[in-house]
Order: sequence, then C-alpha cells, then structure tokens
Amino acid sequence: MPNVFGKLFTISSWGESHGGAVGVVVDGCPPNLSLSEADIQPELDRRRPGQSDIVTPRKEADQVQILSGVYEGKTTGTPISMLVFNKDARPGAYDEMKTKFRPSHADFTYQEKYGHRNPEGGGRSSARETIGRVAAGAIAKKILSAASSVETLAYVRQVQGISMSDDVAINIDAIEANSIRCPDSAAAEKMIDLIKQVRSEGDSVGGVIECRIRNLPIGLGEPVFDRFEADLAKAMLSLPATKGFEVGSGFAGTALKGSEHNDSFENKDGKVRTKTNRSGGVQGGITNGEEVVFRVAFKPTATILQAQDTVDTKGENTQLAARGRHDPCVLPRAVPIVEAMANLVTLDHYMRQHAQNRLFSF
Ligand SMILES: Cc1cc2nc3c(=O)[nH]c(=O)nc-3n(C[C@H](O)[C@H](O)[C@H](O)COP(=O)(O)O)c2cc1C
Repeated sequence: MPNVFGKLFTISSWGESHGGAVGVVVDGCPPNLSLSEADIQPELDRRRPGQSDIVTPRKEADQVQILSGVYEGKTTGTPISMLVFNKDARPGAYDEMKTKFRPSHADFTYQEKYGHRNPEGGGRSSARETIGRVAAGAIAKKILSAASSVETLAYVRQVQGISMSDDVAINIDAIEANSIRCPDSAAAEKMIDLIKQVRSEGDSVGGVIECRIRNLPIGLGEPVFDRFEADLAKAMLSLPATKGFEVGSGFAGTALKGSEHNDSFENKDGKVRTKTNRSGGVQGGITNGEEVVFRVAFKPTATILQAQDTVDTKGENTQLAARGRHDPCVLPRAVPIVEAMANLVTLDHYMRQHAQNRLFSF
C-alpha cells in the first residue's frame, strides 16, 4: 500500500497539485475526541502557499472539510476523511514541462516508472500532497497534547550558509515571529534577505530544519526495525526535497571519542536522567525520556527560472527555464510538515507501546 503510513494510527494521502482536491483518510483515531475543522485549520494556515513574501505566491485558502468519522463534534472511531479543494491551479504554466524534464525534479523518474503522468504543478510530486499529512498531524497533535503534554516544535536552523545561534530560546512565539520560522531573529533577518536575493536571480536555496519532541514518555519505539529514530527518518525522508536526516549528535558526533560522546546517567530528583543529550533522546531505538532532537536537510528548490540543460521525452538534448509559481526556499512551509510527521510517528508508537506493554498485566 504505497500511499499509507503508520501501523495503528494510519494515514492514506491522495490528490495531485492541479487535480480537484487533495486529502487524507485517517484510520485508528480513538473515539470521543472532540474534533472540528478549527483544530486542523491553524496547522494548514502555517503550511499554506502565499502566506508571506518569501514563499510561492499561489493563492490557496486551503480550507479543510471533515467528511467522515466525526458525529456531534466528536470522533466516532471510524475513518476520518478530510479534503481541501485546489482553487488556484494554472496548468498552462506547465505546458513545456509535459515534454521537458525539470532537472532534479520527479518528472523523469515518474515518466520512466509509469509511462503516463500528470505534469500539471508536478502532479503527485507536488508538496500539495503534504496537506493531508498536516491535517492528520493536527489530530495526532491534539491527542498527544491531551494524553501526555507532548510538544513538538520544528524551526529553521540553517538556510544555505546562515545558521541560527545555539543561545536563543526555542518556543512557538519565537518561531512564528518571522516569516522564515527561525527562533533567532537576527539570523532570520539574514536568511530572509538571502531568499529574496536568490529569488530575484531566478534561483533557490535549501537548508536545515531542526525538530524537538518534548515531554515524551520513556519506552516509545521498537528495538530492531521500527526504532523510534528509524521511523522518524522514514517519515522525514518521505517528504519532498529532503536529502538528509540526523538525530542527536548526528554526523558531528563522529568526530568525538566515546568518552566525550557518552551521555552519563544521573539520578535527578528521583528520576534517571542523562547529563547531556547526544543520543537525541533515543537509545537502543527506544525513547529514554529526554528531548528527542533531530535535523532534516532540504535541498534548494528544483524548479528555478534560469535556463538549464535537460532532455525531452524523446531523449533529445534541450534547455528549460521554468515558469509557474515556486518556493525559492521550501523551508518556512516545511516546518509544520516536519512537525506533523513527527506527531504521526509519536502517536503511532504511543499506541503501539500501550497495546503491547500497558494493556495487560499478568
Ligand atoms: C513545502 C514544500 C514546498 C515545495 N515547493 C516546491 C516548488 O515550489 N517547486 C519545486 O520545484 N519543488 C518544490 N518542492 C519540492 C518538490 O516537491 C520535490 O523536489 C519533488 O517532489 C521531487 O522530489 P525530491 O526533491 O525529493 O527528489 C517543495 C517541497 C516542500 C516540502
């Protein structure tokens, strides 16, 4: 089932950029959760195109509708279907891309794999697919915050060569205070200037999103294939334009010795804690009660307005200077998507932990 994600709390996303609508079916949601569009819409508003002057100007309100699974304001335990209609589609901008493959986009591989594809707005490879994930993630977020005060915060850590300081407070107000969603306001200003500069040159930039999952219980994740960080990695690398994932000390940790890298344990106020958190909150694939910290690398947006070498569907060498509306940097809109995927993984493991280890006592 190539469009389904999760084991107990599952999502199935559907839709294309210029099709009638995009949406998701959420299965396994517990009953009796109070739920309405008002719980979902704020997350979609953070993902929406046209939200600032550093993202794609495509004009979509992205108003969500809940079609099933909710009765008299509460979930019924049956599948929850949600959709958003596509309103501002401009297929004409993609005429040339019907026959010319965009470098580093999905056009060539989709064509070779399926032999028939919808090129308008990138079809299924468009980030509009992530609307369904964000809508489903909003439900997961509501359940997690009600069940155990879990808080997931993603933010832009780096845009090309500009990085945020490690000394700033990370909270939702600081993240939402600027259009790039970086909690370091001085770095944010430089990042925004850089994005405007590359956009004026018809170019694009990438960067790094960091995410912290706070107040997690000990014990989420399986020891072997479904390690907590392995499922996070899959969730993050399933997002379009991602090129890397690291947890805790990540690749930088390889420069340290074991004596420098190990997280010593200590008893703190009657609880076993670690003095440092280079493990990123996961040991042996299982959460250890510390903050889960991971980073995701996003490449520069593939579609740029400069002419680039490519080939056409007949295999002839040619050039393509793209048209259409594109994000000069996908990061500010990817922040709520990263949070949504992290919440989906966390809730799924939360339910799995309960089903195996908390339900029965012998
Ligand atoms: C929030 C977000 C917005 C995006 N916007 C664009 C865009 O405007 N133009 C574009 O070419 N790619 C955009 N992408 C990336 C493409 O969807 C992606 O590059 C494409 O599906 C090919 O997949 P790949 O880059 O993972 O190989 C966006 C990705 C995200 C997460």
